[in-house]
Amino acid sequence: MRFTVRDAQLRSLDVPLLALPLAKGAKLDDAITGLDDALGGAISRVIDRRDFRFGRDETMHLVGGAKGPQRILLVGMGAVTELPGAIRRAAMIAARFARRTGAAETAWYHPDADGAIEQAVVGLSMGAWEYSETRTPPPDEERRPAPDEAVVIARDEKRAKGQVDTGVAIAEGMLVARRLAMLPGNICTPDYLADTGRELAKRHGMKITVLGRKEMEEEGMGSFLGVAQGTPQDPKLIALEHRRGSGRPIVLVGKGLCFDSGGISIKPAQSMELMKFDMCGAAAVLGAMEAIGRMELKVNVVGLIGSTTNMPSGTAFKPGDVLKSHLGKYIEIVNTDAEGRLVLCDVLSWARRYEPAAVIDAATLTGACVIALGHTASGVFGNDEALVQEVLGAGKRASEPGWPFPLWEDFKELIKSDVADIKNSGGRAAGAIAAAMFLKEFTESYPWVHLDIAGTAYSETDLVALPKGATGVPVGTFVEFVRGRVS
Ligand code: BES
Ligand code: MN
Ligand code: ZN
Repeated sequence: MRFTVRDAQLRSLDVPLLALPLAKGAKLDDAITGLDDALGGAISRVIDRRDFRFGRDETMHLVGGAKGPQRILLVGMGAVTELPGAIRRAAMIAARFARRTGAAETAWYHPDADGAIEQAVVGLSMGAWEYSETRTPPPDEERRPAPDEAVVIARDEKRAKGQVDTGVAIAEGMLVARRLAMLPGNICTPDYLADTGRELAKRHGMKITVLGRKEMEEEGMGSFLGVAQGTPQDPKLIALEHRRGSGRPIVLVGKGLCFDSGGISIKPAQSMELMKFDMCGAAAVLGAMEAIGRMELKVNVVGLIGSTTNMPSGTAFKPGDVLKSHLGKYIEIVNTDAEGRLVLCDVLSWARRYEPAAVIDAATLTGACVIALGHTASGVFGNDEALVQEVLGAGKRASEPGWPFPLWEDFKELIKSDVADIKNSGGRAAGAIAAAMFLKEFTESYPWVHLDIAGTAYSETDLVALPKGATGVPVGTFVEFVRGRVS
């Protein structure tokens, strides 16, 4: 989506659609009143008659006059407690509406406050986007114009332009993540993720390192390679370095399982196709690096991705096997479907070479986390309370809520093994915590937070503000966290 900023009268805007987000109890300001007068009171009438009640996600579509905006969309925000999140959501709804009704250009007006313009830009971009890469486009006569332009109406154009640039950077990062997550497993392979990383690194002047099976053997990554043993595809460890600050880097780590069949502990056929989404953590790391690169944030950030495909085959690893991890700890495999932690633990131990200030990993790690928190919040786990709070704060600012879980020593019982140092699954009890306890064993030398995004990265149902499919979570959390660390 292309954005322009304009200081103009609403009544004289020549656009197919003007979106007006309105909070409960909001008084119409002079700009909207001016438009209302030009429309013969059409806006105030639907409000006075209580046809439009400012409810969250409520919309009212009005037809414009002979001049000015062709159509006007009132978007309710309900009782607003946090303006940035409410604005983002209203903008998503407006842009989805623009797509449905074929408005090529949308004007957006809301009095600027609290970074509202940045959030509006993120919301408009997110709402307008649609995945269409593996579908035949409809014939020309059935096709509506795509919503690819937006005009932000602002009085302080210079200030607004800064916010537009940041909003575009964040949105483009989220769209990188959503696109990768939507791509099927036969296209989005570990090689594809590595190529995407290379292209991104080149555009932003980042350093990139890619290890394949051979290099990982030399590094002694027996746990990661155990998972990769069942597929002929070359596994990839991808490292992107954005070096624009001083001091220890923030390290972002993503689980990149391009497909998770469960391996020998194979999953039921029902909905197995969804497991192409098991690289959403990796997609979010690439998305965050895209946003950070565009924003040129003065900070050091390293993005790490562990990518492979979990398949059953004659060469696959199997229950009962014992793997030696990169850190040296021996892992008993009791379930080959608990593969994400096996990939991540080697990447997390490899991350020590960067002497990280903080490490945050994102992974579609457990079905148990979906049972606990549904699709509303990501599970948050960590070995450093201050860092956990910092990440929760970043998630809140990004409208990507997280919720904390405990990692008490008592939970370690769940992953004790009879034959190795630890086992890779503790069964069903406290499944999300057991997985995090496993990762904790490999993160003792730095402050670390783990985000279980199994429920939040992808939706199987329409979310009102977003269509079903990839959500882009937790790109916003990553970006807000890194931004918060820029001194
Ligand atoms: N990728 C899955 C987690 C998952 C499952 C996400 C369902 C979303 C929906 C992960 O690799 C996995 O299979 N986890 C197992 C762990 C179990 C074997 C201990 C799970 O959650 O069932
Ligand atoms: Mn699995
Ligand atoms: Zn998995």
